[in-house]
Amino acid sequence: MTWKIVSNQHDKKRLLLEESLFALGNGYLGVRGNLEEASNELCQIRGTYINGFYDDVEIPYAEKGYGYPETSQKMLNLIDAQTLKIFLGEELITIFNGDVKDYQRILNIKKGYLARRFHYTTPLGKEVVITFKRLVSFTYQSLFCQEVEVKPLNYFGPIKIISELNGDVENYVDKSDPRVAQGHSKRLLINCQRQFADFEVLESITEQSKLRVLVLSQTSIDHKHQKQVKFTDKRFISEIRSTLDQKITITKYNLYYDSIRYGVNLLNKAIADFKIIKKLKFNQLIASQESYLNDYFSLCDIKITGNADLQIGIRFNLFHIIQGVGKDQFSNIAAKGLSGEGYEGHYFWDTEIFIFPVFLLTKPDLARNLLLYRYHTLDYARKRARELGHKKGAAFPWRTIKGTECSSFFPASSAQYHINADISYSIIQYYLVTKDDDFLLNYGAEIIFETARLFIDIGHYLENGFNIYGVTGPDEYTAIVNNNYYTNVMAKYNLHWAVKTYQILLEKHGKKFTKLLEKLELTSTEIAEFKKASKNMYLPYDKALDINPQDDSFLGKPPWDFANTPENKYPLLLNYHLLTIYRHQVCKQADTVLAHFLLEDEIDISTIRNSYNYYETVTTHDSSLSSCIFSIMAMKIGEIDKAYEYFSETARMDLDNTHKNTKDGLHMANMGGTYMAIVYGFAGLRIKEATLSIAPKIPKQIESYSFTINYQKRLIKIFKNQATCKLELLSGEEIKIIVDGKYLLLKKNQ
Ligand code: BGC
Repeated sequence: MTWKIVSNQHDKKRLLLEESLFALGNGYLGVRGNLEEASNELCQIRGTYINGFYDDVEIPYAEKGYGYPETSQKMLNLIDAQTLKIFLGEELITIFNGDVKDYQRILNIKKGYLARRFHYTTPLGKEVVITFKRLVSFTYQSLFCQEVEVKPLNYFGPIKIISELNGDVENYVDKSDPRVAQGHSKRLLINCQRQFADFEVLESITEQSKLRVLVLSQTSIDHKHQKQVKFTDKRFISEIRSTLDQKITITKYNLYYDSIRYGVNLLNKAIADFKIIKKLKFNQLIASQESYLNDYFSLCDIKITGNADLQIGIRFNLFHIIQGVGKDQFSNIAAKGLSGEGYEGHYFWDTEIFIFPVFLLTKPDLARNLLLYRYHTLDYARKRARELGHKKGAAFPWRTIKGTECSSFFPASSAQYHINADISYSIIQYYLVTKDDDFLLNYGAEIIFETARLFIDIGHYLENGFNIYGVTGPDEYTAIVNNNYYTNVMAKYNLHWAVKTYQILLEKHGKKFTKLLEKLELTSTEIAEFKKASKNMYLPYDKALDINPQDDSFLGKPPWDFANTPENKYPLLLNYHLLTIYRHQVCKQADTVLAHFLLEDEIDISTIRNSYNYYETVTTHDSSLSSCIFSIMAMKIGEIDKAYEYFSETARMDLDNTHKNTKDGLHMANMGGTYMAIVYGFAGLRIKEATLSIAPKIPKQIESYSFTINYQKRLIKIFKNQATCKLELLSGEEIKIIVDGKYLLLKKNQ
């Protein structure tokens, strides 16, 4: 049962939540778990999305300052193919009317499909058992397939099926929540519709970006029937009439194509694919889902014994990550994946710091792709740096789809310069894990140099060393400060690695590398500047407290009055003006604590411990990106019970809707954080320059955990229970790694 998420509730109040929990996707296409029979009167966020498919929307400003972005991108809700209404006679089968028994909605994580099954009696007493199934194929990225089985119990007679392909769609808007879009809901206009002998095609175009999306849809039934198709109210409506005399099966294939990937002639591509796909039965499609997921989980799964709820949570999170992650150069992974419209489908630093590590240690090809996406947007980042007034370097956007800055609120976006160091940090991690020289030479180095240049440009020297003023760290409850510890230490590392990258590539790839140096006009004088700034980087430290202050002003602010802040005033950002928040010592999320995780060798363990204890008391964890980091660092300082508590929170955050906004989509960074809390937290794994280092511990609440990582072309399995720890080299050459601070030679069959 730890491979299935089961819901027995068909309560209207849970619908929005379940739409996110039961969303399906493959990294390209995503469909929320809406009900096939639901109509517009119902409170729902009916959604289908393509990763990286957007419209440009104007950002309205009352007072627009210099360099504010003029447009944003918005992931659009696409043509809806989900509707499949089944009528017994003229009575609609719906969970909102009639009698529903044995209701079960099951997300099968192993087989990659969703099923909804119930015993239904209409108000006039017609009884059937109905099963709706659906999948978004990992093998055929355009395909969203549905199947409905109707089994008669006491009713034998006319049955009618209404299947829709609806172009009248819009995005969800919530004016009261800054984390959800506030306007621009209708951006997709029907471009053309065509009816073929056995399928329908609808194409729409976005208002501004002029991107096109095409859907080919076919609904069929395994019974003698009459079918009529009409186009009305911006939708195709197919009406199929038949007789329910034994079990009948209805199948609907929906194929989605966009002009970013497939260019001009979407229709030809759709028809060619459909010729192949229509021969495949739903069960065959499930079989290929299973084989894809088997391969994925054989690398990524984390097994936990002694707590089924947490095991389910881990697998649920890993499943949604693979469903959300972009697998081509046009896409990345949005803060909510493809499960909802929160944050408008934008990509953030969430990718590099929270989700990338999952793939880095399991499927490096996907990790590489995430970095390649950034590389392809480097020119936009260069342009943005100029807009921000920097003579050199590249400034990556805080939130984006195509690569330009989409945020209108610079204190919590453009000011978060750390995103540049975060991207470089991931490139370095990728290099250390894969030794992929080719990537470093052709893509990674350019980003590392350009971001290093940015830090040189924004910093300046004072007596205490190299200072960086006027930035915002990860914690969004503190903005535009001087010397944010996180930013400075990450910039230091970025600069240090710019020098190192220069040396590595000069030595190994002199000739080819010279070309890059020429292209970037990067001289040894600049490299010397990088070295000097890195060496002299000022890192705030408070001797009396033995902590790293979050920034120069943090400790001088009065603490937030937590004792008089009622539960219903969280998250603070929805209940207090940001200026009030900024003036206090209060953190939305891990900031210095996160820096201590990413770069632990910069600092003594006593400072790490004291800082953890200090920041824990002032952190609200209003951001879902926080608990996982506190879990990792609690483990680091030996607070095992706390580590477990924070971990439990991450593992079940969406399943238990603890942030109360899962309806807007799943918290992808936290889902990556669950993996990190075990691998980096419980097992204490770190990727050091010398080699891999681990220090496994286990909370008393679980019996054992195990996982496998992919490190420098080796598969290494780590198993830990209350009594022992076992390391196994499953494939690849022997290697020296660090275990609990000591070197150990890991050989096969040890
Ligand atoms: C967090 C950011 C994060 C964003 C998207 C915000 O609430 O504070 O750190 O990048 O959500 O997940």
